[in-house]
Amino acid sequence: MTSLSFLLILKALLLLADSSTHYQEKESPVGDFVREELPEDARLAVCRRKSELLDIKLKERDNELAVKTCELTALSGDFNKSLLYLRETNSKLQNELKASQVTVKNLEGKVAKLETTLKNSMECRGNWVYFNGYCYKIANQAVNKTTSAALCERENAHLVSIHSREENNFILELSQGDYWTWIGLQWADEEWVWSDGSAFDYSNWALREPNRIEENPWGRVQFSSGSWFNYGNTQFSVTICKKRKCFGDGVYYPDLRACILGVKELLGFTPAGSVCKKMGGGHLVSIHNAFQNTLFAELQQNLTGSSVGLIGAIRIVKTDWVWSDATSFDYSKILASTDDCLILDSQDQMWKAVNCDATFSFLCSSRPLS
Ligand SMILES: *[C@@H]1O[C@H](CO)[C@@H](O)[C@H](O)[C@H]1NC(C)=O
Ligand SMILES: *[C@@H]1O[C@H](CO)[C@@H](O)[C@H](O)[C@H]1NC(C)=O
Ligand SMILES: *[C@@H]1O[C@H](CO)[C@@H](O)[C@H](O)[C@H]1NC(C)=O
Repeated sequence: MTSLSFLLILKALLLLADSSTHYQEKESPVGDFVREELPEDARLAVCRRKSELLDIKLKERDNELAVKTCELTALSGDFNKSLLYLRETNSKLQNELKASQVTVKNLEGKVAKLETTLKNSMECRGNWVYFNGYCYKIANQAVNKTTSAALCERENAHLVSIHSREENNFILELSQGDYWTWIGLQWADEEWVWSDGSAFDYSNWALREPNRIEENPWGRVQFSSGSWFNYGNTQFSVTICKKRKCFGDGVYYPDLRACILGVKELLGFTPAGSVCKKMGGGHLVSIHNAFQNTLFAELQQNLTGSSVGLIGAIRIVKTDWVWSDATSFDYSKILASTDDCLILDSQDQMWKAVNCDATFSFLCSSRPLS
């Protein structure tokens, strides 16, 4: 643009010079000094020639300028397109960023929930201490073996069983300087067994222990060394009780050696089974004797607030009932009906057949019952 205005100004100046020449030709007095050098016609011809040359150059410049302007316009069009593209891309990226921020927030929420679940799953209620899936509690008064076992029973637990060096060290820490601790080990039927029914898969007997087993059929741990000794009932030791850490609000029942969880949500047979599986890998309860039937009838009412609830029985072939935990169908309180799933009615403690899609609250057990 600057070169264009420069050229325009130049052209204007030249025209002015041209006209002033004509003016001089007409108005200036005769006998001028300059006029005498060349004949007037010749001078005029030279000027015209110069002017023509300048006009041509100017036109060339104008053309060049037009070309450049055209190129510039084209470039500006490309630039605008690029700009538009960049704007679109930018807004797309902004949207994606916003979406991913939402995703991150959701993930953070999920992580927080998982952390809470994990924390809950590793915490025991009251003054029980968590270790590796179990809750432990020490009763500090020195008592004989019978009283010690009774203390744990009263707490819905068993005398401690020990299955690794880590667990042995843990209970030594827990016993904090008490010299002797009863453990749930006893000699029965020619073998050592744990009172909680777990496998005898680890031992830490002191040198020359156990001995005189028939007279001294109970296990004790000496605090200072962590070594085990076998003793008779009349010795005095402190007590450490152990029970499985249950999922969520589940309650451990030592007689069943299982956690029982009441679920208030009303669900059909299949979704209820899935919930039990999620809540600690269990099943809908199966019932194998009158004791369990009465216990579950009471728990159905106490834990879910509802007098009827699904149990884990389903009829796949007519006449052929099975338990969803794959235990044998060896006990029944069924009132005749045509439907293929069962509820336990806590009022009369009878089992009533219902449509498998009908929804009820229910009880889960952390392990198959028998
Ligand atoms: C490019 O955009 C500018 C500003 O929006 C506009 O003035 C110009 O005419 C556009 N050029 C073309 C070639 O579209
Ligand atoms: C164990 O202790 C309790 C309470 O002190 C007592 O009643 C019981 O007789 C004792 N049992 C044995 C075998 O010493
Ligand atoms: C159920 O609740 C009643 C009343 O509180 C109580 O007496 C009973 O022992 C409870 N049953 C079980 C199995 O917890």
